[in-house]
Amino acid sequence: MAQPTPARKPSDWWRSAVIYQVYVRSFADGDGDGTGDLAGVRARLPYLADLGVDALWFTPWYLSPLKDGGYDVADYRSIDPAFGTLAEAEKLIAEARELDIRTIVDIVPNHVSDQHVWFRAARAAGPGSPERDLFHFRPGRGERGEIPPNDWPSQFAGSTEPVWTRLPDGDWYLHLFTPEQPDLNWAHPAVHREHEEVLRFWFERGVAGVRIDSAALLAKDPALPDYVEGRDPSPFVDRDELHDIYRSWRRVADEYDGVFVGEVWLPDTERFARYLRPDELHTAFNFAFLSCPWEPDRLRASIDETLAEHAPVGAPATWVLCNHDVTRTVTRYGRDDTAFAFATKAFDTPTDLTLGTRRARAAALLSLALPGAVYVYQGEELGLPEAEIPRARIEDPMHFRSGGTDPGRDGCRVPLPWQHDTPYAGFGSHQEPWLPQPADWTSYAADVQAADPGSMLRLYREAIRLRPVFGDGPLTWLPAPEGVLHFTRADGAHCLVNLAEAPVDLPDHTGLLLTSGPLDLRGRLPRDTAAWLRV
Ligand code: GLC
Repeated sequence: MAQPTPARKPSDWWRSAVIYQVYVRSFADGDGDGTGDLAGVRARLPYLADLGVDALWFTPWYLSPLKDGGYDVADYRSIDPAFGTLAEAEKLIAEARELDIRTIVDIVPNHVSDQHVWFRAARAAGPGSPERDLFHFRPGRGERGEIPPNDWPSQFAGSTEPVWTRLPDGDWYLHLFTPEQPDLNWAHPAVHREHEEVLRFWFERGVAGVRIDSAALLAKDPALPDYVEGRDPSPFVDRDELHDIYRSWRRVADEYDGVFVGEVWLPDTERFARYLRPDELHTAFNFAFLSCPWEPDRLRASIDETLAEHAPVGAPATWVLCNHDVTRTVTRYGRDDTAFAFATKAFDTPTDLTLGTRRARAAALLSLALPGAVYVYQGEELGLPEAEIPRARIEDPMHFRSGGTDPGRDGCRVPLPWQHDTPYAGFGSHQEPWLPQPADWTSYAADVQAADPGSMLRLYREAIRLRPVFGDGPLTWLPAPEGVLHFTRADGAHCLVNLAEAPVDLPDHTGLLLTSGPLDLRGRLPRDTAAWLRV
């Protein structure tokens, strides 16, 4: 097992951390029932310590009917029995911390499950009741109230389903996602109070940070007007009221030295950066980088824009290549269109996994060399491809709400392969995993990769171990042939990524620290390959 790394300045670990995203349901199955759980994570902590990550972000592990993979929370103060118990979560947080790995939990403030006690009470209490004020209940339009109160588009990409559901008593309620995820009314003080208590509840249990789900959607125009494309402000995206919410959350986090990472999908970089002002969120996911195609000019522009938008607010950038919502990196980079967009996802997209894997390896070295924090989604370090899930086994509501055209997100949520010679690739022992694993899954198993110096796992381990050679300094671009990215970090190492057709000579260097693939016979850096150098 890896030794804990030397103590860092505790208060700013997050500025340059490597944070590993655990999708609990698919990480490791400790009790063998086909669903990943906290026992499985605890058993694999040595693996995560060997990988060298600084923190774990757990997607929601709370009591939930799992209508949206746990993003439909019924009770924030208990762990779903499928995953374990609160006592186990406390042990896990403490055991991880012993290995110098911090824990980040996921809070979903925009909505709760329709099984949450608040919504059950609201449903039972009837129209006009104070219980309904905690949500957005409205009568319908039309003569008999049969038309939804407004025409807002669903936040599930590709969904044509309404964001309102009518109860038998005639009232409609708002849900930007599924009907099982009613939106909370953030104009109500009880909603504020409750969330601040939930934050405290988890900080008291030793978590170091909180990921904020759908962070730009909470506040709604109280008049709930129809949606007009391009109208500013939007009735439900990125409203100014949000900043007061996060300022008050920040005061809570500061009491515990806790940090936030916001899920903020906003095209406007200036608006995005507002969430990162010094008294608001510490960090936010860099979805522009995640969505960027594998093209040198676009990547460089994305990096420059990221750094430029973060600089004025003093927040560190984050670098994200994939997560539980998007097409896995090796698959995306192996397609004609290497950008990520929800709108272009389709079944049966031709994919060259050899090419995609080569690029994903280079992308790993690129992102781990950039200034800021890096997110690694479970299985990314194994180079897992997006799996094709047979239609009959798909569970993701995104698929169903698109009328079956969007393949949904299950393809990146397939239970991990740990061992090549045990049933279900070592994910769990006796029962088939909740999502089927592809036939070749064992070839990606962690045990196979641990023994192979050329594997993705070994590349990630080595890169995370070596990453401090880049230091804390700012990024400087250096002259390079067309199609090649070349930068250094203050007095630190150099990173080169060749996205041009032809191999390129390496600049004069005193040490070749790491490459994402072999150099050619003349010592040149081939296409879609990255190198870390000491110069
Ligand atoms: C976020 C989550 C996603 C979930 C949605 C609704 O985008 O990442 O998985 O479906 O919010 O909570």
